[in-house]
Amino acid sequence: MSRLLVLLLLALSIGPCVAAPVGPPTAPGGDQALIDLGRALFFDRNLSRNRSQSCASCHDPARAFSDGRENGVRAAASLGDDGHSIGTRNAPSLAYASLVPPFQRDAEGHWRGGLFHDGRASDLVEQAGQPILNPAEMGMADAAAVVARVRENPAHVRAFETRFGPAVFSNEQAAFAALRAALAAFERTPEFAAFDSRYDRWLRGEARLTDAEEEGRRLFFSTLTNCTACHLAGSTGRETREPFSNQRYFNIGVPANPALPAAAQGDPGLAGNPLVADPAQAGRYRVPTLRNVAVTGPYMHNGVFRDLRTAIFFYNQHLVDNAANRINPETGAPWGPAEHPATLDATELRQGQPLGEERIDLLLAFLATLTDARFEALLKK
Ligand code: HEC
Ligand code: HEC
Repeated sequence: MSRLLVLLLLALSIGPCVAAPVGPPTAPGGDQALIDLGRALFFDRNLSRNRSQSCASCHDPARAFSDGRENGVRAAASLGDDGHSIGTRNAPSLAYASLVPPFQRDAEGHWRGGLFHDGRASDLVEQAGQPILNPAEMGMADAAAVVARVRENPAHVRAFETRFGPAVFSNEQAAFAALRAALAAFERTPEFAAFDSRYDRWLRGEARLTDAEEEGRRLFFSTLTNCTACHLAGSTGRETREPFSNQRYFNIGVPANPALPAAAQGDPGLAGNPLVADPAQAGRYRVPTLRNVAVTGPYMHNGVFRDLRTAIFFYNQHLVDNAANRINPETGAPWGPAEHPATLDATELRQGQPLGEERIDLLLAFLATLTDARFEALLKK
């Protein structure tokens, strides 16, 4: 038998076939100097006004790049460098953010991509400057102040000049743009997108799923649930680099989080994105990735749910209106009303069947397989 045939038979006999990738490549093709600079900047607290926080404070690599601090709001939002400002939204994990396409309107007129829950930063480069200048986050006054902090550090100065040329500091806007490019380059590395979860390893034929995980996987991809209408970019889930988000915007009826400051109440979502500014988009948020979701709670744009089980059970209310489905198991009280009921995406939410405890357990087992190898230790035993 020819070697090719043996390989072919081997490929057929182990695991599922892996289809073409759906996301852009994450390795930026070897600009190591830029990546190393981006890493140094990502962890540098001197880029905040009181030198108390870096990007990693709210996107902690030990917490799958999310904010695990309680912050007096049960970790629903982040504390700023001023020591008292509380943000209005939950800090998303930065893992797999590089798979989000630039903010755009597709051929069918749907908004897609963009960073932040409302897509207001087109891409990672544009996004990277904003937390540094946000008064409720790192609180720096302007680009000039940021560049002055960069110049305090001889290692940063050397790295900037080597990578961008000796004139890089002669123009503060250019230097600030270089800083943003470096942060984005770091965020595009495999460090943020390892594709080594048990699910990815299973796709490659390197790992097995338990019976419960396999049943959960089938359920997730079946018409009994409608998860893949929103949480899938490819068509089968077997594409490599699947982000488990179609990168579009939907209103799933998330209630307000009363624990958050007044400014968080009535969040317009996509309608507040300056490029959209359309009240018909109120309450829509970009579908989040489900990669690492088992270790990045609390959930939803406002962190209103502590447990992943609650985030899944929440969808039942749209399918069957009965006494049990009206109660938030975390509070024992009814779910609050949808913040923007008029724009609820009812058509997509009213497909599939309500999930009982057993099926939710299966989905939880499947979702846990989407945890990158380095974060598996965070899974609750
Ligand atoms: C004080 C906490 C805090 C700090 C510090 C912070 N972030 Fe964030 N980050 C957030 C929050 C909260 C959001 C969501 C905000 C929103 O959607 O309006 C976010 C969103 C993001 C996103 C968008 C992710 C997505 O899926 O849409 C990226 C990328 C990001 N931050 C990168 C950074 C970088 C790079 C730095 C450092 C320069 C940084 N962040 C510093 C809290 C923080
Ligand atoms: C109509 C589109 C749609 C469908 C169908 C859907 N989701 Fe979602 N999902 C979303 C959107 C949008 C969000 C974010 C909402 C927000 O932040 O307010 C979300 C959030 C989540 C979250 C929280 C993630 C996080 O990081 O905060 C989980 C978990 C989740 N969905 C799982 C599921 C599962 C499991 C199914 C199937 C039973 C499902 N979703 C069906 C659109 C959908």
